[in-house]
Amino acid sequence: MASNRTFTMIKPDAVKNGHIGAILNQINGAGFKIIAMKYTKLSAEKAGEFYAVHSERPFYGELVEFMSSGPIVAAVLEKDNAVDDFRTLIGATNPSEAAEGTIRANYATSIGENAVHGSDSDDNAKIESDFHFAGTEMFA
Ligand code: CMP
Repeated sequence: MASNRTFTMIKPDAVKNGHIGAILNQINGAGFKIIAMKYTKLSAEKAGEFYAVHSERPFYGELVEFMSSGPIVAAVLEKDNAVDDFRTLIGATNPSEAAEGTIRANYATSIGENAVHGSDSDDNAKIESDFHFAGTEMFA
């Protein structure tokens, strides 16, 4: 059965470009409830740990540098079929391939600086939520 939670980050590019409010509004408008949220900044070490699964990819260094370059908004979201529905809402990783009206089509600038992260599976949603939040910081 699909889990009803996913994890997201509004990335440094979208924060810097002033899109936090619009993105949260689009997330709420699509029926997601925010059950945990923080405005924070990842160290390079923490960003590297979060994206460790990509450590062999050629873009890993760039990804870690970008994700630790400025503040982010981390959040846990709740909705039926959360992981898949959120990935539909944010659109393809590369904004040039993202469907019209999706968050990445609206706010991302490139495949590297793509405005938001969304978990790709129920297992990763749990791992990523626990990476950023203690159980006492989630309010279902
Ligand atoms: P995200 O959904 O956060 O998961 C992994 C991230 O790696 C992805 O979004 C992109 O920001 C980044 N990424 C994926 N492919 C590339 C690429 N070819 N070049 C640079 N960054 C990439």
